[in-house]
Amino acid sequence: MFRSFLYWSSSVIVSMINMILSLFGYLFHGSYKIPSPRESPSNQLQKLMMNRARFRLLHLDYVAIREVLNSLDPIDYINFSRASKSCKTLSTMKKSYKVCLTIKTCPMLKIGNGVINYAVLWTKEKKEDKTRMLRTWPNEARECVFEYSENPLGAMKEFYMHARSLMGIDIDCVVLFMDDFGEQFREIVYWLNSTFREIPAIRVYGKNQQQINVQYILDNVKYKDSLKLYVKTVEMLPPEIPDTIKELRIGYGSWITLDYLMSLKMCKFALLDTYLTNEDINFFFKSWMQMKSHNNLERFEVNLTNPEDFVAIGLRDIPYEMGPTTSAPFLL
Ligand SMILES: *[C@@H]1O[C@H](CO)[C@@H](O)[C@H](O)[C@H]1NC(C)=O
Ligand SMILES: *[C@@H]1O[C@H](CO)[C@@H](O)[C@H](O)[C@H]1NC(C)=O
Ligand SMILES: *[C@@H]1O[C@H](CO)[C@@H](O)[C@H](O)[C@H]1NC(C)=O
Repeated sequence: MFRSFLYWSSSVIVSMINMILSLFGYLFHGSYKIPSPRESPSNQLQKLMMNRARFRLLHLDYVAIREVLNSLDPIDYINFSRASKSCKTLSTMKKSYKVCLTIKTCPMLKIGNGVINYAVLWTKEKKEDKTRMLRTWPNEARECVFEYSENPLGAMKEFYMHARSLMGIDIDCVVLFMDDFGEQFREIVYWLNSTFREIPAIRVYGKNQQQINVQYILDNVKYKDSLKLYVKTVEMLPPEIPDTIKELRIGYGSWITLDYLMSLKMCKFALLDTYLTNEDINFFFKSWMQMKSHNNLERFEVNLTNPEDFVAIGLRDIPYEMGPTTSAPFLL
């Protein structure tokens, strides 16, 4: 009987696990009373059913339970282990997953192998609770589930901290939407700073933010490899960014000068919304080709302010080949 369960579709296994989950919750948290004759028949029936299910459950082989746990997606697995101390004791599988936290009004925890991912989004909207959706991109499929919470950010942090203690998973990226938090962003930065020794990649979004607040994030969140900054600041000044990162993407680069471009050391950078001229770009290309600068550069992306003249001026005295056109304005 149990064997045939195992070979059903994974959704069946998941719903079975939900059943086991609630039973475990009941068994280890609830106090069980023998139905008294004064109780209503439906109550009695319910308790009898509990009792019968309990009987079956406790007779499951440990190996079989582990087999089911092993087939769960990471979110259900983490959730199962949260049901009670005993569930946590059963959940001893270590797997490596990539985890990404998105900090916005509806915070999201995404976990998976990068291609097939699972996500929980915490929402204050009760009507969205437990809704599911599948989102797909050319290189990613993501199964999302919404979870109601009065305190979405707190719920996300708690879920992540539990998952980390359970599976030793670390963090891959953090995405922060500054506009959703006002002054509370300092508290978030404090949490990120004290929780993560190092974050491989961060991405920050915002509109009309103060430069000092953006810099506060950059100074206090320990990002290591990649920074994508899509923040429009009131002052439009260059932020201070360590040279040691590998990848930089600036979404609002109206402040970017030729000097700034020449000073960059990363192996990949993208500068969007800049006022760099075709002459500036020509100067940069030549310097790079003559190996006078940008020795590590592998990839460069920029918005063109004057596309018509780009070939004549931007590529003057530079041998080039046209690659396939991409949706990005210009790509090398
Ligand atoms: C975790 O399990 C509880 C209890 O079954 C359920 O209410 C909740 O929706 C689950 N959460 C997720 C994210 O699956
Ligand atoms: C971030 O952590 C470092 C130590 O790792 C500490 O010196 C710094 O004050 C912290 N910043 C904040 C905002 O907590
Ligand atoms: C620059 O590129 C970005 C992203 O591709 C695009 O959204 C924006 O409109 C472009 N800006 C200009 C001035 O071309």
